This record gives sequence, structure tokens and C-alpha cells, in this order.
Amino acid sequence: MQNILEVQHLAKRFGSSEVLNDISFSLAKGEVVSIIGSSGSGKTTLLRCLNFLEQPDAGRILVSGETLFDAEDPSTKLDRSLRHKRLHFGLVFQSFHLFPQYTAKRNITLAMVLHAKERPNYRAEKREILAEIDARAEALLAEVGLSEKAALYPYQLSGGQQQRVAIARALALNPEILCFDEPTSALDPELSAEVLATIRRLADTGRTMILVTHEMSFARQVSSRVLFMADGRIHEQGTPEEIFGAPKSPRLQSFLANA
Ligand SMILES: Nc1ncnc2c1ncn2[C@@H]1O[C@H](COP(=O)(O)OP(=O)(O)O)[C@@H](O)[C@H]1O
Ligand SMILES: [Mg+2]
Repeated sequence: MQNILEVQHLAKRFGSSEVLNDISFSLAKGEVVSIIGSSGSGKTTLLRCLNFLEQPDAGRILVSGETLFDAEDPSTKLDRSLRHKRLHFGLVFQSFHLFPQYTAKRNITLAMVLHAKERPNYRAEKREILAEIDARAEALLAEVGLSEKAALYPYQLSGGQQQRVAIARALALNPEILCFDEPTSALDPELSAEVLATIRRLADTGRTMILVTHEMSFARQVSSRVLFMADGRIHEQGTPEEIFGAPKSPRLQSFLANA
């Protein structure tokens, strides 16, 4: 089976500090890969590179066999096709990042409307297209269990509900790969639980996901594979049983002991 994502020898430096070093991994359709590691190990930078929010200094990113980025090939540099490239990925941040001035539903429809405006038939079929977008937003709200909250503003929602709106928003443009950057670290335990339940449902329906998390027991339950990052490298990787049940390197052993 063809991998949906291939990351090859990715490297990124900020000034003189090497933040990502020779990162390679792949992801098959429907797999959930969790990334664990101490603060500062490069997890967020890796997700930002995959979402083309940062330009890597070396390496390649392929989605479904298409080379989206190749540091050696100037024609793939991040440029006007950036928005197209970003459509492959959805990203859910630690701190939700909802637009405070828009309702839950509008937060979800916003990108879909911007995207639809580029369609040649938008003016002629505006009414139908907007109705379709509205229906899709309703379906996404239902998927994250928030049908009743469509008309509320972020400040009227709990942190867990806000994060579920952010998840629905990330799904709106149908990304092939959904990325989460510590989606529950800003939440109390009970609010974390509802967000984790939503993520688990997405995993169960076959979504391909990359999950940066400090929730070790959740990572163990939901992941197909786990990557342990240290100092910008993938220090160890394996199945959840291997990583959590039989960690090989002293570095991972000590990380897990303190997690
Ligand atoms: N924009 C930036 N400029 C300079 N250094 C950065 C920038 N972003 C991240 N870093 C540095 O890169 C390293 C990895 O950061 P990050 O990817 O956020 O790690 P993690 O998400 O694992 O905590 C840290 O040392 C951080 O200070
Ligand atoms: Mg981070």
C-alpha cells in the first residue's frame, strides 16, 4: 500500500541551533502516529514544517506520492501554491486559536467560504454553495458533539468545547492528514477527556492522524506507532507496546519514568 505521507531526512535550524535533524518517517492511510518527547525536542517545529508554516532546510515531504516539498528542488519551494499544499493537512493547536468575533459555526465555515469563492461557479451558484457549506458545518458540529452550540461564541464555550470546534474546523476542508499539537495540554482533566474521546472517535473512523501529546496512556491506546523525539531527532520508534512496554534506550526510559 502506498504511504499517504513520507517524510525524508527533514532538517530545520533556527540560527545556529539545529531544531530538526534527519527526521524520516512514513504514515499509511488510517494510521495514527503519536509523537512524544520533552519540551524543546522539536515536536511543534516538525508539525509546523509538515503544515508548511515553516520551511525546512533539507529533506522532502511527499503526500500520496506527490512531492510537496524538496529542499533540493526550487520548484517545490513554498510559494504561491502554499495554500494548495496546506490543504493536505489540518492542524489543531494547543490553544484552540478560534476567531473570538465569530460563532462556532462561522469559525468552521470561514475557510470553506474563502475556498468556495475561488470556484468559477461561485457567483452563479452562490446560494446553493453556501447552503452546502452550512450543511457541512452542521454535520461537523454533530461529529464533535456540538450541534446545540452552533450559534455560540468562543467565550460562551468551555475550553473542551472550543477545542472540539477547532477540530471540526480543521476537518472542514477534508485534509488527508489531521495533526494535533498537544490538544489537551491547556485543559483540565475532565475537559481533556471529552477532547480525547473526540480524537478517539476520529481514529476509529479511520482518519489518518499525527498526534503530539503528553497523554501517555492515551497515546498507548490510540496509536498505531509512536515516535520518541529527543534533541530534534527521532530517538526511538515502535509500536505502543514496544515504546511504552519495552523502551530500549535509557533516554526514553527516563522520559517515561518522569512523564
Ligand atoms: N521561531 C523560532 N525561532 C527560534 N527558535 C525556535 C523557534 N521555534 C522553536 N524554536 C526552538 O526550537 C526548539 C524546539 O522547539 P519546539 O519545536 O517548540 O519543541 P517542542 O514542541 O518539542 O517543545 C526549541 O529549542 C525552541 O526554542
Ligand atoms: Mg510544542
